[in-house]
Amino acid sequence: MNYQSGFGNEFASEAIAGVLPQGQNSPQRVAHGLYAEQLSGTAFTAPRHTNRRSWLYRIRPAAVHAPFQPLAHATFHNRFDEVPPTPNQLRWDPLPLASAPTDFVDGLVTLAGNGGAGEQAGVGIHVYAANRSMQGRYFYDADGELLIVPQLGSLRLATEFGVLDVEPQEIAVIPRGVRFRVELMDAEARGYVCENFGALLRLPDLGPIGSNCLANSRDFLTPHAAYEDVDGAFELIAKFQGTLWSARIDHSPLDVVAWHGNYAAYKYDLRRFNTIGSISFDHPDPSIFTVLTSPSDTAGTANVDFAIFPPRWLVAQHTFRPPWFHRNVASEFMGLITGVYDAKAEGFLPGGASLHNCMSGHGPDAATFERASNADLSKPDVIGGTMAFMFETRKVICPTRQALASPQLQGNYYECWQGIAKHFDPSQA
Ligand SMILES: [Fe+2]
Repeated sequence: MNYQSGFGNEFASEAIAGVLPQGQNSPQRVAHGLYAEQLSGTAFTAPRHTNRRSWLYRIRPAAVHAPFQPLAHATFHNRFDEVPPTPNQLRWDPLPLASAPTDFVDGLVTLAGNGGAGEQAGVGIHVYAANRSMQGRYFYDADGELLIVPQLGSLRLATEFGVLDVEPQEIAVIPRGVRFRVELMDAEARGYVCENFGALLRLPDLGPIGSNCLANSRDFLTPHAAYEDVDGAFELIAKFQGTLWSARIDHSPLDVVAWHGNYAAYKYDLRRFNTIGSISFDHPDPSIFTVLTSPSDTAGTANVDFAIFPPRWLVAQHTFRPPWFHRNVASEFMGLITGVYDAKAEGFLPGGASLHNCMSGHGPDAATFERASNADLSKPDVIGGTMAFMFETRKVICPTRQALASPQLQGNYYECWQGIAKHFDPSQA
């Protein structure tokens, strides 16, 4: 499958040559009887460097469907005030795989979040477990863009902009409002979703790092136009202000024959992240691992950062090499895609999750501390075969009632620090 390369570029793609109007966006008649429709992802008057919109040339406009009716969903929502948020360190085992037939939308479970669509800030943090493709149903999220992090099983995301195939260690971003269908490429699928209610994710500024490194723009891939001209009795599911809605639609809404613009779905292979670290001593702050950031209205303070902890060399001298003990004003939700995370000896499993909220102390467990404190620093360490990630937010991340009641919640997580010994002895160096 081939893609268009670059982050937020002004793309153009035609499934039928000659459809895109030349020299204007909305001519009196579009080729082949198509309709022209603009999809805006930012305010019309957003500054030019952040302004995102695309023009879609489609078989029917997006307006053509029956009225929406409320659609119940037991586990996917934005109710982040159901229970008081806790300062405790939290960790969950992986969500069990689906047993009954379950598609991507059915299989979404909300673990935590903050803010909401109404205030246009914050995130919803969800996990999914599915065992079948979405059949005859399509979904869009009017509340935020969806950052999808597959952990198990590859997904085919059929979108209005074309088709994205993503496998574990790749991510996909479906912009706010974009209609799509999730097909499973394997028998089972499981992963994480960050629903970003705030400003669109973008590449972080690089400052003194320069014009390269971290996630490079050319590695972000956007599909070519691919349309479905299919009539039938289908369902269009909308997420709107925290709840789901369902409408009958008599055709596939993935009927965009050509499009141009800079607001589109994209994917990125996390293994292409160019990781920066210390080559002398100490650590940079983990912001050095930021793949994408959603800025807030406060300079330097993200609504959400998406950071990863990929394979890397550790060479720092005179240094405690694993992540240090810390407390942050920000709140940290972590997941593990594959392998072992270097700050924990055990208990943090692929598909699992942890949450360390604002000012909650955390860091390496006792076993990791003892090992790293006595490690031979004359040799480099290599951390291989792993991929962990973090959704880090400025607002406290509030677990949902179902997350705190989940049998996957590890009641004994705090014990991983209880073995940390008192070494203090003022008579010793
Ligand atoms: Fe942390």
